[in-house]
Amino acid sequence: MTHTIQPNNPEATPAPESTDIPATGGAGTGAAPDAGTSPSGAVNRAASAVPAALKRRVPKYSDLAPLMQFKKPEFSRAAKLQRASTIWELRDMAKRRTPQAPFDYTDGAAEAEITLRRAREAFLDIEFRPGILRNVSSIDLSTDILGKPSRLPVGIAPTGFTRMMQSEGEYAGSQAAEAAGIPYTLSTMGTASIEDVAAAAPNGRNWFQLYLWTDRDRSLELIERAAKAGNDTLMVTVDTAVAGARLRDVRNGMTIPPALTLKTVLDASYRPAWWFNFLTHEPLTFASLSRYTGTVADLINSMFDPTLTFEDLDWLRETWKGKLVVKGIQTVDDARKVVDHGADGVVLSNHGGRQLDRAPIPFHLLPEVSAAFKEDNSDAAIILDTGIMSGADIIAALALGADFTLVGRAYLYGLMAGGRAGVDRAIQILEKDMTRTMALLGVSKLSELTPDHVRILGK
Ligand SMILES: Cc1cc2nc3c(=O)[nH]c(=O)nc-3n(C[C@H](O)[C@H](O)[C@H](O)COP(=O)(O)O)c2cc1C
Repeated sequence: MTHTIQPNNPEATPAPESTDIPATGGAGTGAAPDAGTSPSGAVNRAASAVPAALKRRVPKYSDLAPLMQFKKPEFSRAAKLQRASTIWELRDMAKRRTPQAPFDYTDGAAEAEITLRRAREAFLDIEFRPGILRNVSSIDLSTDILGKPSRLPVGIAPTGFTRMMQSEGEYAGSQAAEAAGIPYTLSTMGTASIEDVAAAAPNGRNWFQLYLWTDRDRSLELIERAAKAGNDTLMVTVDTAVAGARLRDVRNGMTIPPALTLKTVLDASYRPAWWFNFLTHEPLTFASLSRYTGTVADLINSMFDPTLTFEDLDWLRETWKGKLVVKGIQTVDDARKVVDHGADGVVLSNHGGRQLDRAPIPFHLLPEVSAAFKEDNSDAAIILDTGIMSGADIIAALALGADFTLVGRAYLYGLMAGGRAGVDRAIQILEKDMTRTMALLGVSKLSELTPDHVRILGK
C-alpha cells in the first residue's frame, strides 16, 4: 500500500513555520518553558514534537553494560562450520580449503555447465503458497523410502573419488548419514571398499550404486559383495553411455590420484592441510577396482559401457533380490519403461549436469512423471536429484510429487569444508531449512504437502 499526500488537504500540508529544530531550549536542557504553545496560543508543533526520550544525552555505563556482550573470537573449524548457515557458505569454505583440481572436479559440470545452472535456477523460479493459522508447533520430516523409514526425506547420492576431495571421504559421508538416520549410497567409483564402508557405518542404511557392464561376471562380483555387506538397495546408473565432457578437469589436467606437478605443488603451499591429510592417510582404493593411476577421463571410460540395453536391466532384476532403483531417468517414457522392467523406483537425475549438457531438468520432469505413475496406479518410488542447494528445494520437490531426494554436491561441500563435521553441518543446514519452510507453509507432516503449495513461475 502507498500513502499519497493531496496538495489541498490541510491536514496533510505541513505548517509553514514547522521545523525539526526546537524553538527554545537545547539538548539536555529539558522541556522549554513555553514548549508546545506559541505566543499567539497556537500549538508549537516543533517543540512538542521532540519527546524526552529523543533528546540527546551522554550515555551512562549502566545503559551500556547490558549491551556489551564481547566474546572471545573463535577461529576453530567447528566454530566456522557452525557459523555457516547455508550450503553456499560451506561451498565458500570448501573452495578455500581444497586444491583447485579436486574442487573443480566436484563443483564443475559438463561442457558449458548449462544443465547444472538451469537445475539450480529451476528451484528458485517457484513461488511457495503458504497456508496460515495452522498449528505448526511440531514438524515431522520422517518418511518411508523403499520399504524402510528415513528420518529425513533426503539421502546421500553416490559420488566417485570422494576421498580425493577430503581424505575422510566415504567414511565421513556414511557415518554422517548413519548418525542422521538417512540412507547413504556408495558409488562403484567410491574410494573406499563396500566392506570398509559397511564396517564404518554398521547401523546405517547403505545403498550401492552400480555401473552395470555387459561383462556380467564383473557386475555379478560387485552385486554379490554389496548384498553380503548388507546393502538393501541397488541403484543402477544409466545416464553414462560415455563420459560427459568435464572441461574444468581437462583444463586442470586432473588425474587420479592427483599428480605432483609444479602447479599442484604451488597449490599445496597455501592448502597445506589438504595435502597433509592426503599424504598421511591410506592411498585411495576403489569400491570396485584395486589401485588405479590415470586420468579421470580414462577411468570413467573404462567404467562406462555403451553397449547396455534393457536386456541387461532384466538380467539385473533377476539377479538382485533387494530393491532396485534406476538412476538417470530423463523422460516420462523411460520412467514408465524401467518400472515395467521391474524397477522399484526411479531417480530423476541428469547426474548433476555432469553428462549431457542442456539435458532435461529433473524438477521440471517431476510433475509429469508423478502424473504418469498415478495414471498407471504405480507405487514405484520417485527420487529426485540435481541442483538441490537448500532444504526449501527439497520441500518444493516433495510438494510436486517426489517421494525422496538425494544430494551430491551439497554434502560434498560440507565434506571439503570440514570432513565428517562438515557433512554433519550440511545435513543440519538442510534439516533446519526444511523445518522452517514447512512451518512457514503451514504444514506439519510431509504427507500434507501437495502441488498446490508450489507455483512454477512463468506457468
Ligand atoms: C563429484 C561427483 C561425483 C559423482 N560421481 C557419481 C558416481 O560415481 N555415480 C553416480 O551415479 N553419480 C555420480 N554423481 C552424480 C550424483 O550421484 C548426483 O546425481 C548429483 O550429484 C546430483 O546433483 P547435485 O550435485 O546438484 O546434488 C557424482 C556427482 C558429483 C558432484
